[in-house]
Amino acid sequence: MHEHVLISDSNKNLEDRIKVHHWWHLKTAKERLKFKALCKRGGLMAVGSISKPGQYPHTAMPLSVQDNFPSTPGKAKLERNGYFSFSRISGRWHSSTSAKFSFWVIVLIFLLACAAFQLKFSGFHTIGKVSWLNNPAWEKNVQHSCHVKRDEGLVVLVTGAAGFVGSHVSLHLKKRGDGVLGIDNFNSYYDPSLKTARRALLEKHGVFVVEGDINDAALLQTLFNLVPFTHVMHLAAQAGVRYAMENPGSYVHSNVAGLVVLFEACKNANPQPAIVWASSSSVYGLNRKVPFSEFDRTDKPASLYAATKKAGEVVAHTYNHIYGLSITGLRFFTVYGPWGRPDMAYFSFTKAILEGNTITVYQGPNGADLARDFTYIDDVVKGCVASLDTAQKSTGSGGKKKGIAQLRIFNLGNTKPVTVPDMVKILEKNLKTKAHMNIVSMPRNGDVPFTHANITRALQELSYNPSTDLETGLKKFVHWYRSYYDYSDQSRSTP
Ligand SMILES: NC(=O)c1ccc[n+]([C@@H]2O[C@H](COP(=O)([O-])OP(=O)(O)OC[C@H]3O[C@@H](n4cnc5c(N)ncnc54)[C@H](O)[C@@H]3O)[C@@H](O)[C@H]2O)c1
Repeated sequence: MHEHVLISDSNKNLEDRIKVHHWWHLKTAKERLKFKALCKRGGLMAVGSISKPGQYPHTAMPLSVQDNFPSTPGKAKLERNGYFSFSRISGRWHSSTSAKFSFWVIVLIFLLACAAFQLKFSGFHTIGKVSWLNNPAWEKNVQHSCHVKRDEGLVVLVTGAAGFVGSHVSLHLKKRGDGVLGIDNFNSYYDPSLKTARRALLEKHGVFVVEGDINDAALLQTLFNLVPFTHVMHLAAQAGVRYAMENPGSYVHSNVAGLVVLFEACKNANPQPAIVWASSSSVYGLNRKVPFSEFDRTDKPASLYAATKKAGEVVAHTYNHIYGLSITGLRFFTVYGPWGRPDMAYFSFTKAILEGNTITVYQGPNGADLARDFTYIDDVVKGCVASLDTAQKSTGSGGKKKGIAQLRIFNLGNTKPVTVPDMVKILEKNLKTKAHMNIVSMPRNGDVPFTHANITRALQELSYNPSTDLETGLKKFVHWYRSYYDYSDQSRSTP
C-alpha cells in the first residue's frame, strides 16, 4: 500500500512526488526514522504517529501549512492550501462525527454555489448598462429623482420600475410629490422595448430608472449610501406561471436570491426603510375554499412561481423577526390594464384577435371554465400606495433589531371573478372582432382553475376598495393598446 504525497512549491530540491508507506506499514524504527528524515528534508512533518493502524490513512504535510489547520475537530479552515486542508479534513472525517458532518456541509455548499452560478448565467441578458461607479452625472440623476416635493413626502426605491405595476406605482408616487427612484434589469422575458417605453414615460415625469439587478449588492449599497430611502416598493420579480417550466433558474434568481440581497441591503441601511413587496394570489395554489383569505393555508403551490412567492413570504418573516424590518406583502390577483404585460391572457388574446389568429382557451376539470379575479391596475396602485402610507417604521439599526416591527400580508383582488370566456366576450365587443377559439383541457403547467380574493382585511386596514369592473378596465386597456401599437395605420409593429 502506497500513498502519493504532493510536495509544495517551496520543496524544489525534492522530487515532485514521493511515495510514503502508511505509518503502520513502517514496522521497524529504522524505517520510521528514514521516513521522518525524508519528510524533514522536504519541509514536511509526519503526522502518522498520532493515530492507530486502521483508523485513518496517514499523510505528511509542510510545516508551513500547519497553522491552517483547525485545533477543534470539525472547524476546518480552508483559506489557502486546498490540498493539504482537504487531506486534514479527510483525516478528521474518519475520526469524528462532527467533522464528518462539516465535510458534507462543505460539499453541499460547494454544490449549491455551483448550482447558483449555473442559474445566474442561464438567466436573461440585460441591455445597454450605464456604469454607475464614480459617475457624478449618474449620482446626480439618482439624487434628483429622489427629491421630495411635498411635506412629509416619502423617498421610495421602486424595484421593477420598468415593469407593468412598477411603472404605474412610480408615476403615481412622483405625481403626488414623493421622491422616487426606479431600478430594473430590463430583462427580455417579454419585449424589452415595452420596458424602455415605460422608462421613457417615467423619465419624462422626473423618475430616473437605474439599470441594474437587485442581486447586485454593491449597486444597492451605493444607492442606499446616496439616498436615505424611507420606503422600498419591491416589485421586481420573474413573473408568469408557465415560463417556470422553461427557465426555473430565473425564478430562483429574482424571486428568492434577489429578495434576500434586497432585504440584506435594507437591513444594513441607516435608516432602515419600510418595505412593501408583491407576493401573489398564486400562493393559494390548489386551495378550494373561496374566497381566498389571508388566514388560509398556503402550502400547496401549483407552480414554481408560486413556490418562490411563498418562499419570499417566509423569508420576509425571518427578516422582520431578526432585524426589525417593517414588511408588508401584497398578494395581487391578475392585475390588468394599460401598459400591461404581453404574456398575460387578456393582452395576448387582444393581439391575436386583432391579427385574426386563433386563441387557446383552457378549461378546468369536467369542462369547467377557468375564472380569474381580474383586478384593474389603478385599484392595485391605490392598494400599494395605501400600504406605503400605513407602513410603520422599521425598528432596527446597524443591522440589529431594536423592537418589534410591523409584518402584514394583504390580498389585493377585485372580489368579482370572471370566467375566461366572458373576458374574451368583453374583448370581442371592444375590438369589434369575433375571436377564433380553440378550447382545450388545461395542461398541468402551473395554472389554477380559479382565483377569488377576500379583501376584508385590506378594506379595514388600507381602506382598499376596488372600483373598476372588467368591462370598464378592458375598455381602457384596448384604447391604450390601439394607440400604443398604432393599430389604425399598422405603421408600428405589434408586440
Ligand atoms: N401582474 C400580475 O397580475 C401579478 C399578479 C401577482 C403578482 N404579481 C407580482 O407583481 C410584481 C410586478 O409584476 P408585473 O406584472 O409588473 O411584472 P413585470 O414583469 O412587468 O415587472 C417586473 C419587472 O421586474 C424586472 N426584474 C425582474 N427581475 C429583476 C431583477 N433580478 N433585478 C431587477 N429587475 C428585475 C423586470 O425587468 C420587470 O420590468 C411582481 O413581483 C409579480 O410577481 C403580478
